[in-house]
Amino acid sequence: MTVARVGEIPVGGVKVVRLEDQPVALFHLEDGYYAMDDLCTHDGGPLAEGTLEGAVIECPRHGARFDVRSGAVLGLPATAPVPTYQVRIEGDEIQVGWA
Ligand code: FES
Repeated sequence: MTVARVGEIPVGGVKVVRLEDQPVALFHLEDGYYAMDDLCTHDGGPLAEGTLEGAVIECPRHGARFDVRSGAVLGLPATAPVPTYQVRIEGDEIQVGWA
């Protein structure tokens, strides 16, 4: 579904969108857009409110780090990856989580 428009999120920025009832963080990195659950797998921290450095997001609660592109854990205390979603651009629409 369409969740944002191209140009809406600056490079290095993030927008929280909703897929059904799930909050999803849509990041704009230099090489494109990436989407992951806005929910840290350690204790539910809001990842979009964390610090983004390159492609690494640090959870604002206890500092777990994840690769925004893959959802992989890069730093404790989280141990489970964050689910990610494919993103595609159609015209000026950014779409996430189509069937
Ligand atoms: S909730 Fe994210 S590190 Fe604890």
